[in-house]
Amino acid sequence: MRLSRYFLPTLKENPAEAQIVSHRLMLRAGMIRQEAAGIYAWLPLGFQVLQNIEQIVREEMDRAGALELLMPTLQLADLWRESGRYDAYGPEMLRIKDRHDRELLYGPTNEEMITEIFRSYVKSYKTLPLNLYHTQWKFRDEQRPRFGVMRGREFLMKDAYSFDIDEAAARRSYNRMFVAYLRMFARMGLKAIPMRAETGPIGGDLSHEFIILAETGESGVFINKDVLDLPPPPADVDYDSDLTSLIAKWTDLYAATEDVHDAARFEAEVPEDKRVNTRGIEVGQVFYFGTKYSDAMKASVMGPDGVDSAIHGGSYGVGVSRLVGGIIEASHDENGIIWPESVAPFKVGLINMKPADADTDKACEDFYAKLKNAGVTVLYDDTDERAGAKFANMDLIGLPWQLVIGPRGLKTGVVELKNRASGERVELSPDAALQKLTA
Ligand SMILES: Nc1ncnc2c1ncn2[C@@H]1O[C@H](COP(=O)(O)OP(=O)(O)O)[C@@H](O)[C@H]1O
Ligand SMILES: [Mg+2]
Repeated sequence: MRLSRYFLPTLKENPAEAQIVSHRLMLRAGMIRQEAAGIYAWLPLGFQVLQNIEQIVREEMDRAGALELLMPTLQLADLWRESGRYDAYGPEMLRIKDRHDRELLYGPTNEEMITEIFRSYVKSYKTLPLNLYHTQWKFRDEQRPRFGVMRGREFLMKDAYSFDIDEAAARRSYNRMFVAYLRMFARMGLKAIPMRAETGPIGGDLSHEFIILAETGESGVFINKDVLDLPPPPADVDYDSDLTSLIAKWTDLYAATEDVHDAARFEAEVPEDKRVNTRGIEVGQVFYFGTKYSDAMKASVMGPDGVDSAIHGGSYGVGVSRLVGGIIEASHDENGIIWPESVAPFKVGLINMKPADADTDKACEDFYAKLKNAGVTVLYDDTDERAGAKFANMDLIGLPWQLVIGPRGLKTGVVELKNRASGERVELSPDAALQKLTA
């Protein structure tokens, strides 16, 4: 992408309305535009990151055996009356009437709809286990939308729903999601710690929140700091194997949100020098809720014994749009964002130090073409801004690598490569630079 043809409306000044660094940087880097309280348009740079995150989530869900579908944002109120949640949900639910006076709502979550789909088709245990997911916009009319995309009203969530014949099988489904979550967040460069959590309005008796540590987080957390050193599960983890011992490594170390914190246990289990009490951002949550929805909505299947029984369910959410802010909270410096390569909107920022200088233009065009041909995403700053402004802009938008090409270096046969995360700059031959960026 040529910057001269891109839409990147960056801001020089810090926007006054942004209280936390990720919100500030997302506005300054031209990633989002607020359209109403808690409702954002995603501009090209932000949208690319959002899609990259969604794709990592998708790959790990698929690897764990979940199947993607897409449900609508609007749902019938009557469906929610079946579970009793239409009245229970309260003012957070956006309720709408169509021209025929039919009551609809903008979905805050999809347990009812997926249960309706399931019960319409699945009659036998032979179809189980089944895990269906989608990534779709949700609406919750939050009392206090704030911190940009962190607590929005309209936000993008991946939500998955598992269906199993009994509790033991449902726990295996829960474990698969637990492991998939460890992997997806690690791939985004995050340390997301699974913590024992309250089940809230989804209901049920087993739940973990995946939380990244950050002072600006909304949840108070208590952990044994050894949990920060646990390695994520490998890519070839066998989802058909027994995952309990893998999960036990994580759940044996104390980690709980303040809602379920047990001070006596914390002190008994965690040596004093390993106790950490801080704040965190919830990026995902997994629930096992048993037959809560299948009882209310009559979703049952015939077992091997010929007897019908209500299925055991779980649901598994990931805050895809919240993650964009969460990753920035975890990875930035005073100059701007530092994207982990896996989610970066472009891998390389190519800076032309002297546009209209024939040799420099030629060298830049050559690099631009070669990188693109090698499948490397590049944002090529071909504008006639001054060098200082170009550097500041690249630092702000946080691409992992900056490749700086100017007449002075070209004379001695070198280009400069800067690593955004470490700040390290090296001069090397164009060939060596190309090799490094395409490796
Ligand atoms: N208002 C919101 N804005 C952005 N992301 C949200 C919001 N509410 C929830 N999420 C994300 O969706 C995920 C699943 O939501 P869920 O656990 O059902 O919601 P909550 O924790 O608010 O009860 C959360 O872990 C969080 O990452
Ligand atoms: Mg939650």
